[in-house]
Amino acid sequence: MKPVKIGLLGFGTVGNGIASVLNRSGDEIARRAGRKLEIVGACVRNLDRNNPYNIALTTDANLLLDNPEIEIIVEIMGGHNPAKKYITQALNNGKHVVTANKALIAVHGNDIFKLAQEQDLMVAFEAAVAGGIPIIKIIREGLASNQIEWLAGIINGTGNFILTEMKEKGRDFAEVLAQAQALGYAEADPAFDVEGIDAAHKLTILASIAFGIPLQFDKVYIEGITKITREDVQYADEFGYNIKHLGLAKRKQSGIELRVHPTLIPKKRLIANVNGIMNAILVKGDAVGPVLSYGAGAGSEPTASAVIADLVDVVRTLNADSSNRVPHLAFQADRLSNFPILSQDEIKTAYYLRMQALDKPGVLAEITRILSQNNISIEQMMQKKSNSGESAQIIMTTHRVKEQLMQTAITEIESLNVLNQKIALIRIESLWGS
Ligand code: NDP
Ligand code: HSE
Repeated sequence: MKPVKIGLLGFGTVGNGIASVLNRSGDEIARRAGRKLEIVGACVRNLDRNNPYNIALTTDANLLLDNPEIEIIVEIMGGHNPAKKYITQALNNGKHVVTANKALIAVHGNDIFKLAQEQDLMVAFEAAVAGGIPIIKIIREGLASNQIEWLAGIINGTGNFILTEMKEKGRDFAEVLAQAQALGYAEADPAFDVEGIDAAHKLTILASIAFGIPLQFDKVYIEGITKITREDVQYADEFGYNIKHLGLAKRKQSGIELRVHPTLIPKKRLIANVNGIMNAILVKGDAVGPVLSYGAGAGSEPTASAVIADLVDVVRTLNADSSNRVPHLAFQADRLSNFPILSQDEIKTAYYLRMQALDKPGVLAEITRILSQNNISIEQMMQKKSNSGESAQIIMTTHRVKEQLMQTAITEIESLNVLNQKIALIRIESLWGS
């Protein structure tokens, strides 16, 4: 059979990974797909580069998008524009699309999938979430008999790499981020990694395929990792927790919680011990119980692994009746639900609080009075003397309470004028049956 011709839009970290894996394992992959995968060319901005696999490079995307021989376009350039325009053009030209671009899918996926459906074409996006871990396939196909109750994931490798290096080697935030950039893990704008935007893109996609809802990136609550201090890491450890940057999606009676933030997780949970560039996603299905998937969340070949798996899927069904394909968002397109996304005020969780307060009689009593008035129950507490001797760190964990009550209590405590700085708050998740 003739090889399947493929055009790449972008040839950076992921593109080079694809070329390298196909160069090494092309025959083995062809035995799986039924046809050989052939890269016809790649579109880039700058032609002057090292090109060990002799891929034909161009700066004119139309040469690939309008080439009638090319059946599949792989979009690995990132960003919204011109990626969206090119994917639209590819679909309008009758080509299937594979993309690793989570920012694009999270924000414009509803439109892209609608067009693909109208055109009877596939848009595959396994690499958009958790790099090499086939989590889209696991949720969309492997867990198809389950009502997904919740999922929690370490879904940004760069952020996890930074937190791990800070904790284990005491390294500086900026220095570790620079290393993640040099290794090709970070987004073009690394603020996406450390401010939680990249994780929110991925969570948007996971929540859609888990609960059968449209993609709703604008409704995700997002907090990054930039405010986590070494003290917080140490105090969390003393309380029995590790701090991880988590994406959480939970189905509640009144709606869905969608949030990305630093989270204290009991150290005994496997996911609390996922370190470095590795990602992990814990999915709780009503039939199967908890399922944990672990693997490289970023990097050249791990991401290429997911892109090529998508290519194999597309090639296997090139001649199949389109009604037999797996729906883009796991549920039939006309059966998506409008279940609401809950506001952050409505979520319920436990909290870690750290406050630097004046070390004098009555201060702790005032703080606990406010917590109690807001129905907040303390679970663990410790006090550490500061170097100056005039203030003390009060660190506590609480039982579960509605976020709105916690935010009210914080505003009231901060207005007492007994604190030297704002209260540090980190949410806690037991990740067991919750
Ligand atoms: P890179 O920055 O390494 O590569 C991007 C490529 O796209 C480059 O070859 C660049 O050209 C080309 N490009 C960008 N804009 C244009 C444009 N307007 N016209 C033509 N070419 C363009 O990115 P990555 O390979 O790291 O990431 C690609 C995608 O994969 C992104 O969506 C990213 O989020 C996603 N992803 C990345 C992972 C990773 O670990 N790196 C993991 C999972 C997903 P030039 O080289 O000339 O600049
Ligand atoms: N910048 C992303 C990360 C790449 O670090 O996880 C993988 O999506």
